[in-house]
Amino acid sequence: MERGVVVERGVTLSLSKGERPGVAITTPVSQAVLDALRQHADVIDVSSRPRAEWRDALATATGVLVSSAIPIDAAFLDAAPNLQIVATWSVGYDNVDLDALRERGIVLTNTSGSLVETVADLTYALVIFAMRNLAVGLNWVRSGRWMQANMPFGHDLEGATLGIVGFGQIGLAVAKRAQCSGMRVIYSNRTARADDAATGASYRTFDALLAEADCVVLLVPLTPETRGMFGDEQFARMKPTATLVNVARGQVVDTAALLRALEQKNIAGAALDVTDPEPLPPDHPLVGRDDVVVVPHVGSATYETRARMAMLAAQNLIAFFTGEPLPTPVTLPSA
Ligand code: DGY
Repeated sequence: MERGVVVERGVTLSLSKGERPGVAITTPVSQAVLDALRQHADVIDVSSRPRAEWRDALATATGVLVSSAIPIDAAFLDAAPNLQIVATWSVGYDNVDLDALRERGIVLTNTSGSLVETVADLTYALVIFAMRNLAVGLNWVRSGRWMQANMPFGHDLEGATLGIVGFGQIGLAVAKRAQCSGMRVIYSNRTARADDAATGASYRTFDALLAEADCVVLLVPLTPETRGMFGDEQFARMKPTATLVNVARGQVVDTAALLRALEQKNIAGAALDVTDPEPLPPDHPLVGRDDVVVVPHVGSATYETRARMAMLAAQNLIAFFTGEPLPTPVTLPSA
């Protein structure tokens, strides 16, 4: 006999009577998260196994807990014929084939809201790094040099203009930090927000922001519209003294165009938490440059935030299994 629990917009959990849902964990989580899930589901943790060995766990999975590094594409979904919910342990879900999920009636949840302050901290650290030209300082010390008159200096944050492309929750949290340093904040979004007086940030068109900002921060999600939105044309609009900070997704920036802009000194430097490709090979021309700092996609990588994200992903699964409202569902695009 089938039972159905309506969880969201007509999506039902369907299991035979008495059957427990199965969950495949493909990314490492704490014992507390495993324990919470095991109260409601049969959990198979394959996170330490190579992908070729996930087959049995996926074959029986009603739900999966994944990270943004795992493509949730047709091949993944074909291997999981009983799948009803994907809980990604990330805010971004550009790794997920949304159309395929919709066609198969599979629910998606993310961990929206769980990492705002943490990612804002990392973003602001990169703003300071880029504006104060600290990559060169690190490289000088590593190569046995110390501060000399000919070491390139950085720029004051006070009085400089920070341009935030994609001004949502994280952008607002970055703006607060920048304003504490005396920076002017401008932003571009699809449309102006209604709360500029309250946030102290001013709307600009994308092109106007590029021309005015001393440091441009990218915080947009990766979508067909934002993929490659930063190319030769955009770098040419920036000030030669300006820097770029990317904490969005690597594919928002055309890497070859970024290298050209740096080499031709169309911009002064870049600080990147995300890259294309990712991971960036150690012999990549962006690595080791005096005008670039690269960190390995660590925006949310604190013990506290990662624990919160994993538990929120588990709570989404548990809510789905128990028929409660999902804490952070993702609305799939309509056909
Ligand atoms: C996110 O949550 O989207 C972070 O970038 C980690 O992928």
